[in-house]
Amino acid sequence: MPDDSWAVETRLVHDGRPAPTPGAPLNQPVELASTYYAGGETEYARDGTRGMWALEEAVGPLEGGGAVAFASGMAAANAILDLLPAGATVVAARFTYTGVAARLRELDAVGRIRLRTVDIADTDAIVKAVPGADVVWVESPTNPVLEIADIRAIAAAAHSVGALVVCDNTFATPLGQQPLELGADVVLHSATKAIGGHSDCLLGIVVTVDPGRLDALRLRRTLLGATPGALECYLVLRGLRTLALRHQRSQASALEIANKLVGHPAVDRVRYPGLADDPGHDLASAQMTGPGSLISIEVRGGADAAQAAAERTRLWVHATSLGGVESLLERRRRWALENPLVPESLLRLSVGIEDPADLWADLDRALRG
Ligand SMILES: Cc1ncc(COP(=O)(O)O)c(C=O)c1O
Repeated sequence: MPDDSWAVETRLVHDGRPAPTPGAPLNQPVELASTYYAGGETEYARDGTRGMWALEEAVGPLEGGGAVAFASGMAAANAILDLLPAGATVVAARFTYTGVAARLRELDAVGRIRLRTVDIADTDAIVKAVPGADVVWVESPTNPVLEIADIRAIAAAAHSVGALVVCDNTFATPLGQQPLELGADVVLHSATKAIGGHSDCLLGIVVTVDPGRLDALRLRRTLLGATPGALECYLVLRGLRTLALRHQRSQASALEIANKLVGHPAVDRVRYPGLADDPGHDLASAQMTGPGSLISIEVRGGADAAQAAAERTRLWVHATSLGGVESLLERRRRWALENPLVPESLLRLSVGIEDPADLWADLDRALRG
């Protein structure tokens, strides 16, 4: 049985398996059933399934809390927001992930919440914005401009006024950053990304310590119908087994590629917290175990040049999303909902596990045109 003293890399491989009784399968089987014979541990799949609990058992300890799995990252975000009292004040970063930002604006527009947006890298501005807040919604690094929030300082300011701190840890992954340890109350993951790691399913995860909040989130999941499917839970748990290897490899390649992009004739700016002159570098070095596997670049020549470069790659996949084994890139402003503050020429690069020399050769060629 898993042992609390094991390193995280070991636990990733062994947590969430069935009890080791003779003849039992090593992996939690995919059970395709919406309903169950009455009287057992589960009766109806929307309330929970053995495959979902196995995944939660493996993810919770990674972030230092209990995990609640959802049908997608957005389903998880909406469940958290659904717990807020009517008229709650939410302080959120101006560069919060597009989908969450759009949802926050919708809820604000109908009076369900009051939204205050801040520069998440400007801790003083956040301290000024928190009085009267119910929730501070933090993302770090932010999608897609890779700003770094001082999670510890923000949590202290939020807690001084009784506000809850939610941290979207999708970009960092549980191996890159531990928001609960830094003072956040609730951690959100789009496990669709690095945790699942293979771009083959959608899934969301919330981690928190408070048992009452865990129960409330589970009830939200049931009532909102946001339960993840059996196959999705299986795939994400299988992906989790290799998270440490994938994370190390992608991050090392990202650092190598980011350094090569600096000074590239087709690139005006490289945003990557692993670069010494990046505005988030010092903070990222202090609160993260590494700078992660996402890089954003501004391509010289504007939107058309950036779009053309994205369409010229042969190895890098021109597609949205991130955190998979395959390297992906896209121009974020091609999306109508993307924040207009994101530069038109910005390409977001998600570095996968391919050979970094192959990745560089393809990217360099695509950028040169
Ligand atoms: C930072 C971040 N949070 C949340 C989400 C939403 O997750 P999902 O697509 O699984 O609903 C995304 C998706 O891109 C994301 O990048």
